[in-house]
Amino acid sequence: MDGQLPASVTFRLNGADVTIAPRTGERLSEALRERMAARDVKVGCNAGDCGACTVLVDGAPVCACLMTAQQVEGHAVETVSGLVKDDPVAQALLERFQDHGAAQCGICTPGMMVSAVALLRATPEPDETTVEQALGGVLCRCTGYRKIMDAVMGRPANLYGHGDVGDAIRRLDGAEKITGQEAFGDDVAPPGTLEIRLIRSPHAHADFTLGDIAGFAAATPGVATILTAKDVPGRNLFGVIPDFVDQPVLAETTTRFRGEPVAAVVGTPDAIRSFADGDFPVTWHERSAALTVAEAQTADDLHPHRTGNQMCRGMVTCGDPEKALEAADVTVEGHFTSGFVEHAYIEPEAGYARMVDGRVEILACTQAPIMDRDAVAGILGVSTDAVRILPTGTGGGFGSKLDVSVQPFLAMAAWKTGQPVRMTYGRIESMQSTTKRHPSDIKMKIGATRDGRIAGIEFSGDFNTGAYASWGPTVSARVPIHASGPYRVLNYRAEARGIHTNCVPSGAFRGFGVPQSAIAQESLLDDLAEKLNIDPLEFRIANALENGTPTVCGQVFEQGVGIKTCLTALRPAWESERAAAELFNAQGTDLKRGVGVAGGWYGCGNTSMPNPSTIKAGVTRDGRVMLHQGATDIGQGSTTVITQIFASTLGLPVTGITLVGGDTDVTPDAGKTSASRQTF
Ligand code: FES
Repeated sequence: MDGQLPASVTFRLNGADVTIAPRTGERLSEALRERMAARDVKVGCNAGDCGACTVLVDGAPVCACLMTAQQVEGHAVETVSGLVKDDPVAQALLERFQDHGAAQCGICTPGMMVSAVALLRATPEPDETTVEQALGGVLCRCTGYRKIMDAVMGRPANLYGHGDVGDAIRRLDGAEKITGQEAFGDDVAPPGTLEIRLIRSPHAHADFTLGDIAGFAAATPGVATILTAKDVPGRNLFGVIPDFVDQPVLAETTTRFRGEPVAAVVGTPDAIRSFADGDFPVTWHERSAALTVAEAQTADDLHPHRTGNQMCRGMVTCGDPEKALEAADVTVEGHFTSGFVEHAYIEPEAGYARMVDGRVEILACTQAPIMDRDAVAGILGVSTDAVRILPTGTGGGFGSKLDVSVQPFLAMAAWKTGQPVRMTYGRIESMQSTTKRHPSDIKMKIGATRDGRIAGIEFSGDFNTGAYASWGPTVSARVPIHASGPYRVLNYRAEARGIHTNCVPSGAFRGFGVPQSAIAQESLLDDLAEKLNIDPLEFRIANALENGTPTVCGQVFEQGVGIKTCLTALRPAWESERAAAELFNAQGTDLKRGVGVAGGWYGCGNTSMPNPSTIKAGVTRDGRVMLHQGATDIGQGSTTVITQIFASTLGLPVTGITLVGGDTDVTPDAGKTSASRQTF
């Protein structure tokens, strides 16, 4: 071969000899997915970190993204779909994974299955440590690993009932996740589809001028078109809250955060790979950037009409907190800060779009298909009838996939070229451009009476909402409502502000800012209990909300307030764990143990708004019951639970229901999958 790589590569794939002609250095994962249609091999990070793409090469698990296709010449490759077809170990695991609910969103599951098969072939009855080590190369963001461990170790599952509400049954969509057949955002486009690559700002704040775009396109073979802000047919803005729609699809003259896109190159896969970012004709004029809330106070305003970079503010007050704190027997106060948090779903944002009869159809991962449809229609300047959203499987979202990501670019590219297009964010661009948990800067003061009652609270929190609003207004509204924690507080004042900076936009993430405020409030409750010499658990129990007691907003829940029962139930564990820690610490080693307790609450569903959710059902002439269900299941199980609710209500078994959707053409608006709202 004279040191040259062969033009073709022959190997055994799931028991059959195959020959392909990959590019030099092409990743095995890409070759399998794009040349062999093995979309059961999922890709998460493309860097060997997440393990989603794990396959067996001669029986050993490897990350297919870290091997070149050339390296498997003459070797045997097995993927999850081949294993569940032919291997009794994999077939048994398929059953056990379903019994234990070991697949949630499912994006990691093929990699887990493949790794588990390799382990069980060698060690049919492994102990827990061996399983942990064998599966350690595959990350799961959803399950907490416990159910996966139970499935691999063959522990008994706790399924019961036939599918009525409350019964523990297998997920209706479990098998296809476990066998890798579930199609996620990057799994639907045919090989060779035009791709989109975004040109992103390398600066946190910059003015820019575009150069000879047409010349660049002409000189780059395979480029179909280049989109800039001028190509946005409708409104060059998107956002999630009507009065705060402020983010350009493509920046016009100024970028406000590092990673903000200014142009979208659409072309063949080879064309998209053929140039470096620095080749693209754009000139940057870097400007000073405000990266923290403190810097934003004196920086130029990022947006007109948002003076001092204040996006919005929320406040709740009741009683007379100032007087109450003055009169309190003890007070504590603190200053707390927290940073950005990335959602870290294993599936990066991805999708595919095509024109069908003059309409654009988008197949992409999402938590909110109707919102995506409405956003895309506004960007294209068309009615919502011209847009169809077909949600793919979503490999985790955790709040960030409530906002559009790839959808506007897919829609514009398909609309302009008339051709199908696909787009998948790399891990870096997913991290740098999609929403994060808000960093917080909180000052809080709490007072209590000598007998251990909370007397009053003052709270003030600034939340770094980044360059654009996203769900920042929700954070500003929710935090003051919840900064008391689930406790009775009669004198209270809490204010939260969303402040713009030149950072990536902050958005939705479990609790919308409430976890940040809980860090401050629960820490100070510990300090108060210590000052009062009261047990921290008993202090919380004494102050916990109950049925009939008002919250700081004056809301009175007549039933269902369970925090006191919950905390009371902790007493035996609290005592025994503290005693155990004391014993351990008395041994005098450098290691010390501590035991803590904290309470928390947050709102389920839309904040201070109605929470409508709609399904549609019917019976066909041949007697089938059809459930048109558009709520997106991003791993939490709503597809199964909503079917259980519907079937129970009708008095039918779940197996008697035919599911249709999600598809904005045929499934009515079930609202977004956020804040635990789909099945709560
Ligand atoms: Fe493992 Fe979602 S089920 S990442």
